[in-house]
Amino acid sequence: AQNKRESLYIVLNFANEYFQKVLHNTDEGKSIGLSYFKERGFTEETIKKFELGYSRELWDGLLNEATQKGYNKEILSEAGLVIDKDGKNYDRFRSRVMFPIHNVSGKTIAFGGRKLSSTDKSAKYINSPETELYHKSKVLYGMYQGKNAIRKEDNCYLVEGYTDVISMHQAGVENVVASSGTALTEDQVKLIRRYTENVTVIFDGDQAGIKASMRGIDLLLEGDLNVKAVALPEGEDPDSYAKQLGASGFREYVGEEAQDIIRFKTKVLLDETGNDPVKKAGVIKDIVSSITKINDPVKRTVYIKDCSDLLGIAESVLVAEQNKILIENR
Ligand code: CTP
Ligand code: MN
Ligand code: MN
Ligand code: MN
Ligand code: MN
Repeated sequence: AQNKRESLYIVLNFANEYFQKVLHNTDEGKSIGLSYFKERGFTEETIKKFELGYSRELWDGLLNEATQKGYNKEILSEAGLVIDKDGKNYDRFRSRVMFPIHNVSGKTIAFGGRKLSSTDKSAKYINSPETELYHKSKVLYGMYQGKNAIRKEDNCYLVEGYTDVISMHQAGVENVVASSGTALTEDQVKLIRRYTENVTVIFDGDQAGIKASMRGIDLLLEGDLNVKAVALPEGEDPDSYAKQLGASGFREYVGEEAQDIIRFKTKVLLDETGNDPVKKAGVIKDIVSSITKINDPVKRTVYIKDCSDLLGIAESVLVAEQNKILIENR
């Protein structure tokens, strides 16, 4: 089994080098893939740093190259690179710009591939399936490139997407990882905790992004992390906003706009409910439930006081609600 894992690492590394070679050294790669990245404002240095690549407009671009080099179809398929359908094999990633996903020690374990145009009606991103090496729920994109900065800054920005991580690096913010568009997991929280206790969430300024951040928050709090959030203007994500503000403008923005997560959540939820008393009661329960996830009782007390001010509700009411939840969960 050890041997098998080793073979998977080797073939994934081969694929990573192949996709980069195609991007940089072929006419198709340069005119389609490289221009795509350049149009998005990624520099040569950034493209190299994240080992970005390109998969050709062929059913067997990688398959052919790899089998010629002696890799068999089984290992290519188990690595998630080649699809095996009724005995027919073909490349999983075709006509896409490629984002390799690394484990914390820098080995390639999976890929995300983005389509090149909006006229292509297939999924925007295609990702490697779960394999023996790749467990999506345990990985955070960018952790390999960001871990030293996360330790040094003693803070980790948490964003949604591949390009958010990459653009933030290019803007000079390297302490950043992405959940890659799925709900955060306990394993991912533990992974962050290996490097820092402080997390700043920056999700996309859309309904989906805000929902995702709300779900992630409680898990981060339960993991005993100190959590802040940065809100982005409607329709922006860290990638688009970094491009709009420029590097120093963006760094200033995230530095200054980070606010406490409970405050953030309270404001977002209150915005949605207006003055409807029934909905407001729901908000109060929701917030208090989040506060109750925090293990430190002193921190909880401070939050209760703060929320009492924000919500215009007596502290005693919030404390009573908290005690109810604590008893229910005992
Ligand atoms: N994602 C995915 N499959 C999709 C859409 C999204 O796996 N069909 C994941 C990707 O990891 C993506 C992240 O969710 O980076 C966030 O999604 P989204 O905000 O839609 O994409 P962006 O990262 O903003 O990508 P882009 O800027 O290239 O449009
Ligand atoms: Mn495993
Ligand atoms: Mn999004
Ligand atoms: Mn986005
Ligand atoms: Mn984007």
